[in-house]
Amino acid sequence: MAEYETILVEQREAVTLITLNRPKALNALNAQVLADLIAALAAFDADASQGCAVITGSEKAFAAGADIKEMAEMGFADMYGTNHFAGYERITATRKPVIAAVAGYALGGGCELAMMCDFILAADTAKFGQPEIKLGVSPGMGGSQRLVRAVGKAKAMEMCLTGRMMDAEEAERAGLVSRVVPAADLVEEAVKTAATIAGMAPLAVKANKEMVNAAFETGLAQGIHFERRLFHGLFATADQKEGMAAFVEKRPGNWTGR
Ligand code: CAA
Repeated sequence: MAEYETILVEQREAVTLITLNRPKALNALNAQVLADLIAALAAFDADASQGCAVITGSEKAFAAGADIKEMAEMGFADMYGTNHFAGYERITATRKPVIAAVAGYALGGGCELAMMCDFILAADTAKFGQPEIKLGVSPGMGGSQRLVRAVGKAKAMEMCLTGRMMDAEEAERAGLVSRVVPAADLVEEAVKTAATIAGMAPLAVKANKEMVNAAFETGLAQGIHFERRLFHGLFATADQKEGMAAFVEKRPGNWTGR
């Protein structure tokens, strides 16, 4: 397995666990973290033995944002000229599911990275925020768009304009996270959830991810049409035959990924 500078990667059976590992900087996201994440997720996506990934941080911080020290001296030409942060789109291009397991701070780019994942499991210690306004800037990795879609305009606007943090309980109520678990159980619970997903028929997993994500990009009629066509397509797979036969025969499905 490849070694990375800023993240730890381990395979727990069919689950790839990625741990952000810049503890002294509260996992601030610099260019190296981005490069490492892109490489690790591409390797995960290409590895047929892996079915679901988890990205987590430390007890204190999932990630406290983009690296302020790296950005402080940059100008417009550096940012616009290199299309700074556009590389993060390669994270959302991952075709297999990625779960964010968030404990502690998920601020700025940290909150945005969590929202790039397919869903967020939160520890009861999690704190989400878009505090960029306090630095004289704004979200830059999709936060203003994904937060609105996750929690609605009122909360998103208040968080972006004031930098106020949302705790785990509020985040669950607002729909930003799928579930809140005790901090001590977070990684274990995320890996367990990922293992459940990794145990499903691989083509159906990709199709389900793709159709739920389509809801963010399309109108209702177009989205339902897209869902129905993918659903029809799944009836061309061996795993559909296997899954339905297994139900009738009261046994677990034995997937081939075909
Ligand atoms: N970038 C670079 N370094 C960071 C950092 C960041 N985003 N967040 C924390 N650190 C560093 C601190 O500078 C400090 O380093 P030193 O020990 O060398 O001084 C170390 O991590 C520990 O941090 P603190 O001493 O500040 O820890 P704390 O417990 O007192 O406070 C905190 C924790 C409230 C999260 C505070 O660190 C903080 O406010 N961090 C910045 C949060 C922020 O503004 N994030 C948005 C960044 S901009 C962005 O993300 C743009 C975008 O949309 C893409």
